[in-house]
Amino acid sequence: MLNIRGILARSILYFLLISLVSSIFAFTFFFTAEVIDVPGRYGRMSILVVVSLIVVIALDPLKRLLSRITDDIFYKDRIDYQSVLREISIIIAREIDLEILLTTLKDALRSKLKLKAADILVKRNHGFTSLATDKSARKAMHSDNPLIEYIYDKKELIITDEFYRQTYDMPEGDERHKKQQVLDELERQGIEFCLPVVLEGDLKALIILGQKQSGDIYGNEEVRFFNNLAPQIAVALEKAQLYESIGEFNLKLQDKINRATQKLKDQTVELQDANAHLKQLDTAKSEFLSIASHQLRTPVSALKGYLSMMLEGDFGTVEPKQRQVLADLFESAARLARLINIFLNVSRIESGRFKLDKTMTDVNALVDSVMKELSGQAVSKGITITFVRDQKLPQLYADSDKIREVVLNIVDNAIKYTPHGKIDIKTFKENGAIHFTSTDTGIGIRPEEANSLFRKFVRGTGIAQVNTQGSGLGLYIAHRVVSEHGGRIWVESKGLGEGSTFHFTVPIVKKPADAPDMLADAKAKRKRTEKKV
Ligand SMILES: Nc1ncnc2c1ncn2[C@@H]1O[C@H](COP(=O)(O)OP(=O)(O)OP(=O)(O)O)[C@@H](O)[C@H]1O
Ligand SMILES: [Mg+2]
Repeated sequence: MLNIRGILARSILYFLLISLVSSIFAFTFFFTAEVIDVPGRYGRMSILVVVSLIVVIALDPLKRLLSRITDDIFYKDRIDYQSVLREISIIIAREIDLEILLTTLKDALRSKLKLKAADILVKRNHGFTSLATDKSARKAMHSDNPLIEYIYDKKELIITDEFYRQTYDMPEGDERHKKQQVLDELERQGIEFCLPVVLEGDLKALIILGQKQSGDIYGNEEVRFFNNLAPQIAVALEKAQLYESIGEFNLKLQDKINRATQKLKDQTVELQDANAHLKQLDTAKSEFLSIASHQLRTPVSALKGYLSMMLEGDFGTVEPKQRQVLADLFESAARLARLINIFLNVSRIESGRFKLDKTMTDVNALVDSVMKELSGQAVSKGITITFVRDQKLPQLYADSDKIREVVLNIVDNAIKYTPHGKIDIKTFKENGAIHFTSTDTGIGIRPEEANSLFRKFVRGTGIAQVNTQGSGLGLYIAHRVVSEHGGRIWVESKGLGEGSTFHFTVPIVKKPADAPDMLADAKAKRKRTEKKV
């Protein structure tokens, strides 16, 4: 291609340069001969040599200066592709949103390269579509479009002008017919330049340019420029598409989270309803337990009292045969009374009415009375109970009825869960507390169950086969009683068949000054016992 403008600019440049140099030499001659009149041939010669040297040194900068001036005049609308490439690279590096990236790129190409139209179409379902949202965006081209078919096939740059020449230089035939169709499409859409953007052999997008504003045709400079730009665009598209797919993934994830949260909320509401219902049932059960126990307590106490009196001979001599029957009946009545007490205590705990009624308490005396109450049971099983007491055990300021129930349940358990052997009970003072232990040679406890036995309704695995009588509430109440007194209750056992040792401690606290004195305590206690019987 003949660059007339370039030849003209260079000619003017050299003309100006030669004129300038000639003028300098002409002026030097004139000046040395006519104005300062340098004498002698050698004098003028030496001035000429000096001037020549200066001209040689200054020639190159002078040439560059003149070249810039002529270029500015002749190439006013010339594009600095290097700086355009830099600017566009910055846009590509900065933008991650696919739509914004493509719209910005398209506008930058059009304005900076001084084009009538520019667009970047991205691949969508084998066709190509513009993501730009403005009016200048091109219509989508589907996979059956001849241009798209050609691009898929060749994956090469098309400059319409050259393509036109190639097509008409070809002999008639299928190939030419195909190219003719592509050409028609290019002309129909006003496309002058079409470059496929390929990444690792995969067609990603098409850079489509319309006419230049200058009317010039696309040349090597544009081809170089776009060959540099296309890989950058390919990578940027990949990055933006990845970002887009992450966005879609996030949306899907958010949707799933929302649905799961809603489901959870629904389930929570259902659970709350079920919980409220269960609470109602539990309250009803506790109320029933409380009413039933209260109703049963008085007749059972009377039964127990009369049976005891009969056994004591208060109603006349009792035949040995009758005595055995009466003793069995007393035993059953006592067990029933204990059960009622347990139920009453549980219902008190659950309704928050569980309170301590503290008086000065002699723990050793409590143990004695428990042993007396349970001796029949122990004897019938052939179990011996020994009690090693600390004679100097101080009195406890505690709820004596409830502490007695704790001792009663522990010793009752020891008898119940010891098929044969013995039970050793001890009381002693240790670290400011009264310590009670009961060691039996019974069935023992699995170590992993030792702590859970103090929970409500919990019985040892398979215990129902050993002993059917039991609700799993005795230790639960005992734990509550001891805790309320600031003490601790626990069990030690080496395992099944190894016996068990139950411990509880209650700290020895001083009786507050405003509490009733010992005598009054004893009186009050006696009154309560009389009432019960
Ligand atoms: N001395 C013991 N030896 C072996 N197991 C025991 C002993 N004491 C308690 N257990 C186990 O602990 C469980 C809970 O005892 P807890 O006194 O709370 O209930 P229970 O004796 O079964 O019934 P109740 O409510 O009538 O007292 C018992 O069922 C039993 O499995
Ligand atoms: Mg028990």
